[in-house]
Amino acid sequence: MAGVSVQAFRRQGRRFGAGLVCSEMVSCAGLEHRNERTLGYLRIASDEHPLAVQIFGSNSATMAEAARMVEAAGADLVDINFGCPVKKVTKTGAGATLLDDPARATAIVRTVVDAVSVPVTVKMRRGLENGARTCLDLGPRLVDAGAASLTLHPRSARQMYTGEADHSLTAELVELVDVPVVASGDITSRARAETVLATTGAAAVMVGRAAQGNPWAIREIVGDSDAEPSRVEVAAELLLFVRETARELGEQRATSFLKKFYGWYLGRGRFPRQFKQELTQLQTLGEVEERLCAAVPGAAFVLARLERQNAPAAEVELDLPISIYGGG
Ligand SMILES: Cc1cc2nc3c(=O)[nH]c(=O)nc-3n(C[C@H](O)[C@H](O)[C@H](O)COP(=O)(O)O)c2cc1C
Repeated sequence: MAGVSVQAFRRQGRRFGAGLVCSEMVSCAGLEHRNERTLGYLRIASDEHPLAVQIFGSNSATMAEAARMVEAAGADLVDINFGCPVKKVTKTGAGATLLDDPARATAIVRTVVDAVSVPVTVKMRRGLENGARTCLDLGPRLVDAGAASLTLHPRSARQMYTGEADHSLTAELVELVDVPVVASGDITSRARAETVLATTGAAAVMVGRAAQGNPWAIREIVGDSDAEPSRVEVAAELLLFVRETARELGEQRATSFLKKFYGWYLGRGRFPRQFKQELTQLQTLGEVEERLCAAVPGAAFVLARLERQNAPAAEVELDLPISIYGGG
């Protein structure tokens, strides 16, 4: 998830039981131009595997070059984005726009498959307009072009995140292709995951928003534990997330990036609303840490244990500018 699936989020997902994690979407044009921030998306830690890195773009050759860089960075899968509904992306002919451009979409998949030796997968929406069934026409063609797996988020691009994901389309897609289909959309609990798997025949489910500030949802979905986390656990996980994100993005970028996560972690009735608001108004991450530790005695102790157990893993050394490794 763009703006969410930073390395700290992915490592946390793995720790709580996710079988596969995915990067934020990475612009192939940004990689082509060696944009420093874009290159930063290719930092992969050794404890993230298996990891998919997702690329987006509309030009086959540029996508192929991006895929080669992704493979060289150590990704286990290259995923292609044919689902992003955001205007900034669709107006360039990338993301969901490609659902209505099957010739170009299949050419991109074929070229990327030829460029790398890791599996190439595709993530799609159902189509551009409400009620569209484009994914059922395009999906088999993408498999013919070499896609090793398809993930379907069965909402239209127009819907953005409103309404419900219509997994009857996922079931139809499963019938049409002989590669694993992954169901994405509204998977929020083990019960929901079981229903979607049973009714669609999908090979796996993908968890998005339910895991934001809530890795315990993953633990519940994989069947490890349905215990609600204590306040101490929540605060300690948030503190670890703050520290890891600061290391990854640098203090300045992390400060604004993290604000939305305070609500996600501390909401769900776990902490008073006023406390979340207070955290978002603090100027530095040091102050956020102090405030959290003061409000939740015991959090610092649990944090120390988490840090011992989750020491930063080795990262693949890339030939990238030094500042990328310096956090920002
Ligand atoms: C903030 C945000 C960013 C997202 N970014 C991406 C992205 O970069 N690539 C992608 O394939 N899907 C992206 N998605 C869509 C999710 O992967 C997923 O398909 C969708 O949110 C439905 O699943 P959910 O109900 O589990 O969240 C994003 C969703 C959200 C909410």
